This record gives sequence, C-alpha cells and structure tokens, in this order.
Amino acid sequence: MNQNIDFDSVSPNRTSSIMPEESVIKSSFLRALLVLLQASGAQLEEQSQLLLLSFDGFRWDYVNRVPTPNFRALMDEGVQVEHVENTYITKTYPNHYTLVTGLHAETHGIVANEMYDRIHNRSFSMDGPEVYNSWWWEEAVPLWVTNQKAGRKSGAAMWPGSDVAIGGFHPTHFLSYNASVPFETRVAQLIDWFLGPDAINFGMLYWEEPDESGHNLGPESPLMDVVIADIDEKLGFLRDKLKSTGLYEKVNLIVTSDHGMTQLSHDKIIELDTYVSRDLYTWIDKSPVVGILPKEGKLEEVYSSLKNANPNMVVYKKEEIPDHYHYKHNLRIMPLIVEVKEGWTVMQNRNESFMLGNHGYNNSLPSMHPVFVARGPAFRRDYTKAFMRSVDLYPLMCSILGLKPLPNNGSLSSVQDLLVETSTPMPLVPPIPREPSYAWAVGSLLGAALVIGFLLMFVQQVTQRQLRPMHLSNSEITQPLL
Ligand SMILES: *[C@@H]1O[C@H](CO)[C@@H](O)[C@H](O)[C@H]1NC(C)=O
Ligand SMILES: *[C@@H]1O[C@H](CO)[C@@H](O)[C@H](O)[C@H]1NC(C)=O
Ligand SMILES: *[C@@H]1O[C@H](CO)[C@@H](O)[C@H](O)[C@H]1NC(C)=O
Ligand SMILES: *[C@@H]1O[C@H](CO)[C@@H](O)[C@H](O)[C@H]1NC(C)=O
Ligand SMILES: *[C@@H]1O[C@H](CO)[C@@H](O)[C@H](O)[C@H]1NC(C)=O
Ligand SMILES: [Zn+2]
Repeated sequence: MNQNIDFDSVSPNRTSSIMPEESVIKSSFLRALLVLLQASGAQLEEQSQLLLLSFDGFRWDYVNRVPTPNFRALMDEGVQVEHVENTYITKTYPNHYTLVTGLHAETHGIVANEMYDRIHNRSFSMDGPEVYNSWWWEEAVPLWVTNQKAGRKSGAAMWPGSDVAIGGFHPTHFLSYNASVPFETRVAQLIDWFLGPDAINFGMLYWEEPDESGHNLGPESPLMDVVIADIDEKLGFLRDKLKSTGLYEKVNLIVTSDHGMTQLSHDKIIELDTYVSRDLYTWIDKSPVVGILPKEGKLEEVYSSLKNANPNMVVYKKEEIPDHYHYKHNLRIMPLIVEVKEGWTVMQNRNESFMLGNHGYNNSLPSMHPVFVARGPAFRRDYTKAFMRSVDLYPLMCSILGLKPLPNNGSLSSVQDLLVETSTPMPLVPPIPREPSYAWAVGSLLGAALVIGFLLMFVQQVTQRQLRPMHLSNSEITQPLL
C-alpha cells in the first residue's frame, strides 16, 4: 500500500507532501479526501459544450409568420422564451456585447454602433478601423475570454468584437470579420473547432440576416417571408451538420438575436435642421437614438431648441435619461440624447438615405425583442417561458459552462427554470435544493465530516511532526480548476 500522497496531483501550485510513516487509518482519511477532490476535478474536465448563434435582427415573432420547421424542432426538443427584453439602445453592437457579458451598455462600454469619446477624441464606427482598437471593448470581459482563462478553448465565427484582442485575448479560434463568408462556411469552421485537436467547448456564430433585409424591405413586407424561411433553412443546415458529426446530442445550442425590427414610413421623418442649426452640435450615431454633442457653451441653446420641438421626439440631458434604460453612466453617452417614437426616423435633412425598417427604440417595445430558442443536454424539453432579460443569458451560459460569472446585471435564478435540474455545475457552495432532500443532507454531512477529519489530522501532523504548514484554503478545495 503506497502511503505517499502527493498533493501536487491535485493542485499544481502546492509542493508539500505528507511524510510516509503514518498510520493506515490516517492515510485512508486522506485517500478518501483525495478521491473526493479527483472526482470533482474529473467532473469539470468533462466540459459541457455550448454554441451561441445570433441571427441578427430576428424578431421574436418571425417564427410565427411562415413555417419554420427547424425553429419548431428546437422548441419541441428544448426551450423557447417568447419575450427577451434586450438592452437599450436596441442596436447591434451594444446588444451583442450584452449577450456575452451580462452587462447593460453603460457598463460594458459599447454604448452604440457609432461612438465618440470626448476625452480621447476617438470615433468608433461599425465599419471603421477603430473597431479593432481593443481599448473600446475593455470596460468588460466577454465570456470567451473568461472561458479561456479557465483553461478551456473558445471559437468565434464573426461574432461582433470576437476578432479584436480584448484584454490581450483573441478567441482560441476565430474568423476575421468578412461579411462575404457564407453561413455554411462559418458552420463548417465551427464544427471543425468543436471536433479538432484544440477542441473548443464554447462557440459563437453570427449571421447578418434577417437584419439587412429587414432594414431594406421593412418587416411588414411580404418579401420578408422568403428571408425568414431562408433563415430557417440555414438553421436546418446547422442541425444536419451537428447530427452528421455526432455533436447534436452533446452540444447545447442557443439560437437568439440582438434585437427585432419595426416598420418605418416616409410620412414619419423628423428633420433636425428644422429646429436647430447643425453648426451648434456634432451628430453621433443614427436614428432612432442619436447622441448630440453640443459645441462649446451651446448645450442649453441646443436643448431648448429641441425640447418641445416635435411631439414624436424627446430630447434628454444625459442626467434625465430614464433610469429604466440603464443608459447614463458612461462618458461615451453624449450630453444630449434625441430619441424618436417607434416607427419614426430622425435625420438632419430629408435628403439623407432612408430605410423601411429599423431598431434601436425603447427596449420595452415588443417589436424590439429578439427570438430565443435553445436545446441540448442542459436544457429542459418542450418548455415555454414567457419572459427573460438578455442580461440573464450570461449567468445562464456560465452555469452551463461551469464558469464563475464575473459581476453582471443578470440573474441566474430568473432563468434557472430553463435548465434541467442536474445541469447545475460545480457550484462554489452546495446548492439549496428546491425540495429539501435527504440525500443532499447525508452528502453534506459526510463531506463535512471528511473535511473536519482531514483538518484534525492535518493539525495533528503539523504539531507532531512540525511539517511546513500547507495553506490549503477552502476556496482552493472547492474550485480547483477555476
Ligand atoms: C480630433 O481628431 C481629429 C482627427 O481624427 C482632428 O482633426 C482634430 O483636430 C482632433 N481634435 C482635437 C481637439 O484634438
Ligand atoms: C472575404 O470572403 C470572400 C468569400 O470567401 C473572399 O472571396 C474574400 O477574399 C474575403 N475577403 C477578405 C478581405 O479576406
Ligand atoms: C442635404 O441637405 C443639406 C442641407 O440642405 C446639405 O448640406 C447636404 O449637402 C445635402 N446632402 C446631400 C447628400 O444632398
Ligand atoms: C418604454 O416603454 C415602456 C413600456 O411601454 C414605457 O413604460 C416607458 O415609459 C417607455 N420609456 C420611454 C422613455 O419612452
Ligand atoms: C450592472 O453590473 C455592474 C457590475 O456588477 C454594476 O457595476 C452596475 O452598477 C450594474 N448596473 C445596474 C443598473 O445595476
Ligand atoms: Zn443587429
């Protein structure tokens, strides 16, 4: 019987080991503890796999509009959330970053698709080179980075921000943004990453439609039916690929979006030039929520010119922005914000380009809400939930991946019902079961007895043999790999 128990096999940072001439009883205590620790380690190594897919601008009710057999299959096999309240402003970049951070835009710092930083005199634009300046993204840490810091591998196919080195980290595997790369190529790449030698456990996939068609055609156009049916076919392609590679039953698949879309009209255009001279301010971002940076000393003049100018438009001083938007506490939010009512467009002059569909409005509006379906071993089957907030997705994904979430604005308990009960991974403290359970109590008692036994023995060892103390703190025992 080998009595030499080396704790290096449990934690690589520890160098102490127990002296060999101890009693069989003592060593069996340690052995039992070691088995317990190794078992929890093994459980963590068998990582759950997660694929997060965003179809940009896929409004929640598009699935009811034409037959969408692939979305239906995911709902039957998994869960559907009817209304996901996304974060203000309901634009692409802010919301994609919210999905992977659980933070409102004012906290994660990507407050708009087009931003200006007054202190650094820098402009961020979706199609401009500043997107690759990691500084814009570093007010938060996205999930793919946290996953990698825990020793796992992430892969991203075009997810906004995923080709930027954030905090020095690119995803383990990623594609540089290129809108011309077909959906099928992105899928093939992700599947290779899940199966490859440097296998990922967390993948992200982004597709530009139906947002683009929604803007061009307007969501009420009958032509959108074709676009939605095509998205369903793309989802079908992904399902087939996952099935043919044996991943379908292993990977947790979440299909969602950043925002919805609403119909616009040529009769609902507000021209800012009518009310205030463009010499008095700089215009940041686009309709329906526009940042206004007044020229030096012109804030009150611009504000009073716009204040009661049009019943379909509101202007807020930054400090007046409604609290429920959680859109105030960031330097990148301009001193004045203009917001127009649903369906309205604000421009400086009517000669600017006009779209038939748009998003960005109040995040309480149903038209702004994205689709949400998910299936896989972590999810319940055939379950419909009425409501969640998009900030809750981050703690949900952390739970599936067995990662400790960073501080965020979401709540796991609000969405826990989407998960099968056993999927809750290695928590830092034993969970309080919904129904008090006998097995849980016995397990806890045994565990506590084991730890106390070990500690008693440890004290004995130190006092009797004057070993170097081992700083085996509680947190190191319970989260060896985190
Ligand atoms: C801000 O940057 C622009 C060029 O990006 C430059 O033209 C302008 O002078 C700068 N303004 C200040 C105040 O530095
Ligand atoms: C973008 O992807 C298309 C299609 O795969 C390819 O032809 C093109 O060269 C790519 N562009 C860049 C800049 O890589
Ligand atoms: C639109 O009108 C404004 C004001 O009349 C003018 O300054 C601007 O050049 C025009 N833009 C285009 C694209 O015609
Ligand atoms: C946003 O919509 C909600 C729900 O309709 C409403 O209560 C709230 O006042 C709206 N906020 C603003 C600023 O219009
Ligand atoms: C969102 O979470 C961050 C990080 O915990 C926190 O600093 C911020 O105050 C939260 N925002 C709200 C509105 O609670
Ligand atoms: Zn979008």
